[in-house]
Amino acid sequence: MKKLLKWMRFGLAGLVGLLIVAVAGVYLLSSMQLNKSYTVEPEPVAIPTAAAAIAEGQRQYTTHGCGDCHSPDGAGALVIDDPLFGRISGSNLTPGAGGIVQSYSDLDWVRAIRHGVAPDGRPLLVMPSHEYNPLNDDDLGAIMAYLKSMSPVDHQPPANAVGLLGRILLVTGLVPVLPAGRINHAAPRPTAVARGATVEYGYYLSQSCIGCHGEGLSGGAIPGLPPEPPLPRNLTPDAATGLGNWSQEDFLVAIREGQRPDGTAIDPKAMPWPSFKLMTDDELQALWLYLQSVPAQPFGNR
Ligand code: HEC
Ligand code: HEC
Repeated sequence: MKKLLKWMRFGLAGLVGLLIVAVAGVYLLSSMQLNKSYTVEPEPVAIPTAAAAIAEGQRQYTTHGCGDCHSPDGAGALVIDDPLFGRISGSNLTPGAGGIVQSYSDLDWVRAIRHGVAPDGRPLLVMPSHEYNPLNDDDLGAIMAYLKSMSPVDHQPPANAVGLLGRILLVTGLVPVLPAGRINHAAPRPTAVARGATVEYGYYLSQSCIGCHGEGLSGGAIPGLPPEPPLPRNLTPDAATGLGNWSQEDFLVAIREGQRPDGTAIDPKAMPWPSFKLMTDDELQALWLYLQSVPAQPFGNR
């Protein structure tokens, strides 16, 4: 009996030791990624000054979800506040006190939005630049025109901190904690897809959907996040669990009014249709055509 107890104590000590080594490894590996410096020299993007372009930029600031993390007025907002994951805020993008971007050059804007890299080479936390990297020059230029026109708001977001869970998700790659690490910064710019109600343009716009609905658009729990309902739905043409029996009109009503064909409501906190409803008819038609063109898959295949 004494011997057994001794062995159990020995085993327990071993387990605790392993755990400590694992946690230390996670901190070491994640710190290496957090402290990595990126040298990115982006191509300049023309920034229009016409009022119509600024208004278009404001519309895209909304449809691309910038306002969800930087607040509609650009003053910044708490994005994640979780004792395990960490505390992360979208920066104050206005020229007000607490805004980091007063000193931004035009290229600094491009580097941050397209590459997820701060002017000093630091990779930006949770800023989804992997989704914005494909943005064409016209769209990015309009967004920057709007950003540069923002009224100053004084707001100092709290300092960012990444907790143990955030670090585990970073090291395992389950969640894009540092999107800069996922972008090929040297890749040539893709040729811009012409605007219009086409499958190609719909694919371009669908970059805003895959973060939640999955690369294959079949929905299901988002990797690395608690599988809390409502889960992103299946947007593929699957008849049983997807949009196989929807019409284009059904899709437009879903995005513009947050209502499904059966009359049930789509949760505006889980599915940001109040932002997407500013999409033009052409954009929504293009998205619909693209969604109809992807292979049907059962729910949850991501
Ligand atoms: C999912 C949340 C999220 C969305 C959506 C988002 N951002 Fe961010 N963004 C952040 C966070 C968080 C930071 C701060 C990261 C850091 O300091 O490490 C940030 C940083 C930035 C910065 C760098 C500012 C600085 O501190 O140097 C710019 C510029 C920026 N975002 C612009 C945009 C624009 C434009 C959009 C829309 C096209 C956008 N963001 C969408 C979360 C987001
Ligand atoms: C932040 C995560 C998120 C993003 C980004 C997102 N969705 Fe959703 N979407 C959801 C969730 C969650 C639901 C389920 C909501 C519910 O059941 O109330 C949903 C539901 C839907 C539905 C209803 C489908 C059905 O069968 O009821 C449609 C249509 C839809 N999304 C389209 C889109 C499109 C198109 C995009 C990109 C332009 C997009 N979503 C981007 C999370 C997201």
